[in-house]
Amino acid sequence: MSPRDATVSVMDSSAEGAGHPSSPRRERVDAIAAVYNAAGDDYIAYADGDPTRPFAFEGTHAHADRLIWRLLDEKLTALRASGVREVRLLDAGCGPGTWLRRLVARAHALGFTVVSARGFDLAQAQIQRARLLAGNLSRLPGVDLTFDVADLTSPLPEPDGCVDIALCLYSVLSHLPDASLPSVASELARVTSGHFVAAVRSIGSPPSALADPMENVRRIERDHASDLCEIELCDGRQAAFRFHLFGAAELRDLFADHFDIEDLRALDLFHRRFTPDPRWSPPSLAIERTMSMELARLEEAYARHPAFIDHASHLLLVARPPSAAAAALSRLAPRFAESMR
Ligand SMILES: C[S@@+](CC[C@H](N)C(=O)[O-])C[C@H]1O[C@@H](n2cnc3c(N)ncnc32)[C@H](O)[C@@H]1O
Repeated sequence: MSPRDATVSVMDSSAEGAGHPSSPRRERVDAIAAVYNAAGDDYIAYADGDPTRPFAFEGTHAHADRLIWRLLDEKLTALRASGVREVRLLDAGCGPGTWLRRLVARAHALGFTVVSARGFDLAQAQIQRARLLAGNLSRLPGVDLTFDVADLTSPLPEPDGCVDIALCLYSVLSHLPDASLPSVASELARVTSGHFVAAVRSIGSPPSALADPMENVRRIERDHASDLCEIELCDGRQAAFRFHLFGAAELRDLFADHFDIEDLRALDLFHRRFTPDPRWSPPSLAIERTMSMELARLEEAYARHPAFIDHASHLLLVARPPSAAAAALSRLAPRFAESMR
């Protein structure tokens, strides 16, 4: 059966077996990979727009992408300005690798002389795409850019504290079994010395088929009680897979034991509602410039407001490892350290 006509199922979680062909883990991995493999090149078009123009930020998530990019650019620029000449980047669940290509291109332009970057993902088709698109970038002097197929629920091969910027963007965490999340958070913290940046869908986000635009969807059901998403596309493809929507407090709690949380904010509280989609947003609501600026102002005003944050399309978490002193304090006097957070 080709991935295009695959009907996939999902299994979770706690009693995940090893690599046995019919283990729950194997089925979970296959179910998620099948969705993103089947989407193939359509995924990058849907998520990022034209892959040859990675800085155009024109896609469905243009507003959120611009915000994330501004943040990443700031972190990279500050690192370079501090005199550092070597940078190591990691993108967990990189899909077609657009975010890593952006970071590598920018790091090279900023004058980092050694740029080591690894992206990995469950979906073979996305990794193939990422490798193809890496072409010229990976041949730049000092750049070592690799993409491989791997599962974020397995231990990372990176040594402790070697990654300057670690990414886990757009719903990767939503696909992971609950039981694996604490160890995934701890692994990401183990390898990160600089910043960790994650984006997840929030509990108030509008429906999404994740790998395909909503125009292609005939039927979608999200069951929050069982964290299951079922989709039937207009071309007959069907998929059922784990999809967990996060609350802001839940996302913070997941990482707070391992990182200092620098920022936790809403992305696309308002913009996303006006994204053209023939069935959800009539064409008359297409955003023009003045309205877009007004929405951007509102986004900033309410992005961290407790009453609004969970209504976002996505939540953005920016974190960094606790300072050595804080980590020591946390070991010696955990209650006091917690009260200081
Ligand atoms: C919505 S896409 C986001 C891709 C990319 N981070 C981006 O922002 O464009 C979610 C990705 O997570 C990947 N994924 C899901 N579970 C994973 C896991 N356990 N390990 C690695 N990748 C995973 C999927 O294959 C998919 O490519």
